[in-house]
Amino acid sequence: MGLNNCHNFQDFRKLAKRRLPSPIFHYIDGAADDEITYKRNTEAYADVDLVPNVLAGVAEVDMSVEVMGQKLDLPVYCAPTALQRLFHHEGERAVAKAASKYGTMFGVSSLATTTVEEISALVDTPKMFQFYFHKDRGLNDALLERAKAANFNVLALTVDTITGGNRERDLRTGFTSPPKLTPSSLFSFATHPMWAWNFLTKEKFDMPHLSGYVSEGTNLAVSVGDYFSTMLDQSMNWKDAEDLCKKWDGQFALKGVMSVEDAKRAVDIGCTGIMVSNHGGRQLDGSRAPFDQLAEICDAVGDKIDVICEGGIQRGTHILKALSVGAKACSGGRLYLYALAAAGQAGVEKALGNLKVEIERDMKLMGITSLDQLSRDNLRFHNRAA
Ligand code: LAC
Repeated sequence: MGLNNCHNFQDFRKLAKRRLPSPIFHYIDGAADDEITYKRNTEAYADVDLVPNVLAGVAEVDMSVEVMGQKLDLPVYCAPTALQRLFHHEGERAVAKAASKYGTMFGVSSLATTTVEEISALVDTPKMFQFYFHKDRGLNDALLERAKAANFNVLALTVDTITGGNRERDLRTGFTSPPKLTPSSLFSFATHPMWAWNFLTKEKFDMPHLSGYVSEGTNLAVSVGDYFSTMLDQSMNWKDAEDLCKKWDGQFALKGVMSVEDAKRAVDIGCTGIMVSNHGGRQLDGSRAPFDQLAEICDAVGDKIDVICEGGIQRGTHILKALSVGAKACSGGRLYLYALAAAGQAGVEKALGNLKVEIERDMKLMGITSLDQLSRDNLRFHNRAA
């Protein structure tokens, strides 16, 4: 199966599984504990039905949205994710160029493998920087200054990784970043020679935003859970978030808000957006799916702050359902990561292209020409009144 046969999310997932050494595939594909939240993130969309209108004159449709001051050509963007050069040697550059081609935003992580400066020089479409709040305040200041100097448009503070999630697939495969050579991982790398060749012969793996701060060195093999648990500041609180928001002095979001109470506090401290997200089910298993939680959050703060639905998105209809409830846009990681692993920039372009085609088709079938025509009137929930 090649890229041309990748028609949906599951097709990219299958191709990524074939191309990646198994510890790396399972790092992307896995989640916390029993992975119940991870599954629910997508299943939640199936508990709601769309009710279309017809005869609406839909020859031209406008798929654009405005979110956190950014005009996007699509209502979905690439959420920031870490370590992208592990998945494909083109890494963040591939995602930046593909997102830019589709006129949408993409995020770059503090744990990225390419610098904000390089990404900024590469594309001028909207960019989000994902901030991890470290114990090392010097590192925090440096991250903020670099993202600001590189003209990133949005700062997103990650608030749901206060400690590492229990990712049992990573425990079983021994996944670390960079990959550690153990007998079983060596076998897996040897049986994926193309990946191994690119990893060994292309530029050396690094997390350049951390260089000079992480005393152990950014090339020491650690698990992501260990990194979160040892490097990030577990005392982080609302005052820290408010201070960071003030220091950034621009579009500022909390990534990983799930409760109405927290959404209201985000408004109070001056945030302009929140990502309703459970980190792709990778942190607290048993926590609610973003789509299930979206309505009450939009009801509470939807007129004061931009609400983004992040998690489980695999289809254009998932996006239309989230926007109908009240989200301003959607974002996701795996929705482009399997495609990145499968085929680099060409893969991410194909994944975004597929989604664009689906959104356009779904809008026409729903009888709308712009996304602000969506509302809860076109939804019916299986288990409750709409
Ligand atoms: C993860 C982090 C790095 O979920 O976002 O693995």
